[in-house]
Amino acid sequence: MTVLTPPLLAAMRGQPTPHTPVWIMRQAGRYLPEYRAIRAKTDFLTLTRTPELAAEVTLQPIRRFALDGAILFSDIMTPVEGMGVGVDFAPGPVIAQPIRTAADLARLHTLDPQRDVPYVLESIRIVRRELPAHVGLIGFAGAPFTLFCYLVSGKPSKEFGTARAFLQREPELSAQILDRLAESMTLYLRAQIDAGAQAVMLFDSWGGLLGRDDYARVALPPVRRILSALKDTGVPLIYFCNNSWTLLDFIADLPADVVGLDWRGTLSTARKHLRPDQAVQGNLDPAVLFAAPDVLAARVNALLDDAGPGRHVFNLGHGIWPETDPDAVARLVDLVHAHRPAR
Ligand code: CP3
Repeated sequence: MTVLTPPLLAAMRGQPTPHTPVWIMRQAGRYLPEYRAIRAKTDFLTLTRTPELAAEVTLQPIRRFALDGAILFSDIMTPVEGMGVGVDFAPGPVIAQPIRTAADLARLHTLDPQRDVPYVLESIRIVRRELPAHVGLIGFAGAPFTLFCYLVSGKPSKEFGTARAFLQREPELSAQILDRLAESMTLYLRAQIDAGAQAVMLFDSWGGLLGRDDYARVALPPVRRILSALKDTGVPLIYFCNNSWTLLDFIADLPADVVGLDWRGTLSTARKHLRPDQAVQGNLDPAVLFAAPDVLAARVNALLDDAGPGRHVFNLGHGIWPETDPDAVARLVDLVHAHRPAR
């Protein structure tokens, strides 16, 4: 029996697909009543540490919508906890004792995935058993600079001034922190792939806060190190850097198979800067899910026409908002699947 490659993975590899595959960043979350029902009884940390519950929440959006991809339910800060630094969610990550000295860094040990986050790997195994064969499972980690922002500042922030000032004041200690994170996230993603993740994504939510020089010197090398180390796995490697439109020449030079883009630019523009063998992932503004159905349809079709056929995974340009109507998501998925290339 031939087992067909899920469209999600085929598009990432530049192979033909019957339709443009679609998944949604933060597709398991508070906009779904079934997620809120589970969260009413269980706090977020317990949810991420209980494989049966994490798997159930991962599968919720797959049951409701015709999505082509599932993403493991966890958080970018989950492995940081495993590395020995306590994290609370309120609802964003809060670290009671931020990492700001060499002694702090000593508390952040290199991750041993089997020992430190076995529940993540078990969640992946459960999801793979339950997931329909045509849906691909994406594992993920935070990019080192984005994790550094939370670890140093200790709380969410718009500009991460504390972390960016620390980077300038303490370049050597910063490099050591980023090094430990790069090594640990490499081990983490490899363990996820061994457990059954079929593609992996690095979330660099805050890399775009940096100017070109600091990005190239500080944020990019650990990303390159992680992606290069995972090349031999053969699974598609996705890199998403929010606000990266002025950094695309650097990203074109990374061993990333897929590049996630936010909504601020067009995918045809991104393609001009990226390598022809790199697929694009994105990039509808999450706000457009609040438009009237005919406007949503026009925007989705225009985005797909602009992206052109092949090597495109449809997604939002950032995480879906908790206020979103799930029916708009159902319409979005149907629109993407129904679209045929303009001739
Ligand atoms: O469905 C999915 O996308 C999978 C699960 C997932 C979560 N967080 C669950 C979560 C993923 C991939 C993430 C990644 C993540 N976490 C990022 C990168 C993507 C991005 O948004 O830029 C970042 C920066 C974080 C850090 C984080 N965790 C924040 C800022 C917050 C609070 C704000 C928010 O968006 O909810 C969290 C908590 C969090 N992570 C929740 C969920 C479902 C909310 C917890 C709750 O139920 O209250």
